[in-house]
Amino acid sequence: MSQPLAFPAGFLWGTATAAHQVEGNNFNNQWWAFEQQPGAIWHGDRSGLACDWWRHAEQDFDRMAQLHQNSHRLSVEWSRIEPTPGHFDAQALDRYRAMLGGLRERGIIPLVTLHHFTNPLWFEEKGGWENRESVARFQRFVERTVQALGDLCQRWVTINEPMVYVAQGWFKGIWPPGKSDFRTAMQVTRHLLFAHGEAYHTIHRLQPRAQVGYAKHVRLFQGLRPGNRLDRYAAGLKRWLFEHVWVVATDDGRLRPPLGLNTCHASLIDTFDFMGINYYTVDRTRFVPNPFTLFGQEQFTPGGELSDAGRDGPFAEFRPDGLYQICQEVRQFHKPVIITENGLPDQDDDQRPRWLLAHLHQLHRAIQSGVDVQGYFHWTLVDNFEWAEGWGLRFGLFRLDPKTQERTPRPSAGLYREIAQGNSITPALVERYAPSLLPQIFPKQ
Ligand code: BGC
Repeated sequence: MSQPLAFPAGFLWGTATAAHQVEGNNFNNQWWAFEQQPGAIWHGDRSGLACDWWRHAEQDFDRMAQLHQNSHRLSVEWSRIEPTPGHFDAQALDRYRAMLGGLRERGIIPLVTLHHFTNPLWFEEKGGWENRESVARFQRFVERTVQALGDLCQRWVTINEPMVYVAQGWFKGIWPPGKSDFRTAMQVTRHLLFAHGEAYHTIHRLQPRAQVGYAKHVRLFQGLRPGNRLDRYAAGLKRWLFEHVWVVATDDGRLRPPLGLNTCHASLIDTFDFMGINYYTVDRTRFVPNPFTLFGQEQFTPGGELSDAGRDGPFAEFRPDGLYQICQEVRQFHKPVIITENGLPDQDDDQRPRWLLAHLHQLHRAIQSGVDVQGYFHWTLVDNFEWAEGWGLRFGLFRLDPKTQERTPRPSAGLYREIAQGNSITPALVERYAPSLLPQIFPKQ
C-alpha cells in the first residue's frame, strides 16, 4: 500500500486574503476611486461591501477553523489606519487587533501583509509611489502599525507582488494610475524596493525575532516555440525584469539595469527572512517585434488545460510543475519558502480539487528534495473582489453571493480540510477527489 504524502510537522495550512478584496466600503483608497470610472472593471463591477469583513470577518474565521487551518494571511488597509497624513485611527487599529486576536483564539497564526495594491487617497494626491517621499510615508505607517499590532503577529509581508503592481499600473496601464511609461515604472519599482528595505529594518528594530519578507509573484516565462531563440530571448527579458531584478536586489543590495547601474545599497542587502512565492501559472512567451510589449506576447502551451480565466484572463494554464521548478530555483538563497498564494478561478469547482492535489504533490516533491517549504496559503477562502476582473473570477473554496453574503462550500473546501487535518495527502483522498491523478501521485511500485 502506498504511504501518504506527509508534510513536515508544524506546516502552515491557510488561505490568503487582501483587505480591499474582502473588507468592504474601503472608499478612502485609490482602487475605490478607480472602480467608479466607467469601463475600468469587468462588467462595471465594484468592490462595494466585498465579503463584509470589516463587520463580520470572525464568521469566516470560524470557517477557517472548521477547515483545520492553522494560519491565515490577511492584509491591513493603509487608508483605514492612516486616513489623513500623520493621523492614525485608533478605532481602525483596534478593529485589526480584534481580528488578529480572533484568529489566534481559534489557533490560527496570522501573517500580515502591509501593502496589498491599495494606497490612501491623500498618498495618491501627493504623487503616490512616483514621489520619493513615498518611502518615508510608508515607513511611518509601518512603524505605527507594527507598534500597535506587533504583540499579535510575528510574520509580516511588507509588499505584495511589487512587480505585478508596477506592470499593471505603469506598464499595461490597466490598474490605477493607468499609465504606460517605462521610466516611471522603474522609478516606482525603486521606491517600492527602498520602502520594503525600510520596512524590513523597522519591523526588526521593533520586533527582533519577527520573520519578514515580501510576496513575489512568479510566472517563470518560458519561450513558446521549442528551439526558437527569439522566443527564449523575449521570455528571458521578461523574467529578468519581472522576477530577477527585485529578488537579487533584496539579496545582494544591487540595483541592476534597468533599475540602476549595479549600484549597491546597504539598506537592501539580505532583506528577506523567508521567500514568499505567489504562484498561479507559467507564461509562454512568443517573440513579437514590439518594444512596447518588451518584445514578447504571452500565450498558452498549445493544447494546455485552461481555467475559467480562459484566453482573456491572467490566471489561465494548469501548470503544477512550475511550483516545483520555482522551489528549486530559490534554493540558492538558503531561506525558508512560504507559498503565500496559489489558486485558480473555477466557478463550478470542476478543476480545483485536481488542481489543488496536483500543486500540493509538486510542493511535496520539492520538500522531499530538501527545500525548506514552511507553509501553503490557498487563494482564497471565499470568492472576493478580483481587482480589474471584479466579481467575474471566482477563486473561493466557498462560493459567495455578494448580494446576500451567503456562502456555500465548494467540494474543494472539504478536500482542503482533510489535507490540513491530516497534514498529508492519502491515496484515498486522491481516489475520491481526483482519481485521474492516482498513477502520477502514487505510482505502483
Ligand atoms: C493577487 C491577489 C489576486 C490574485 C488572483 C494575486 O496576483 O495578489 O490580490 O486576487 O492574484 O487574482
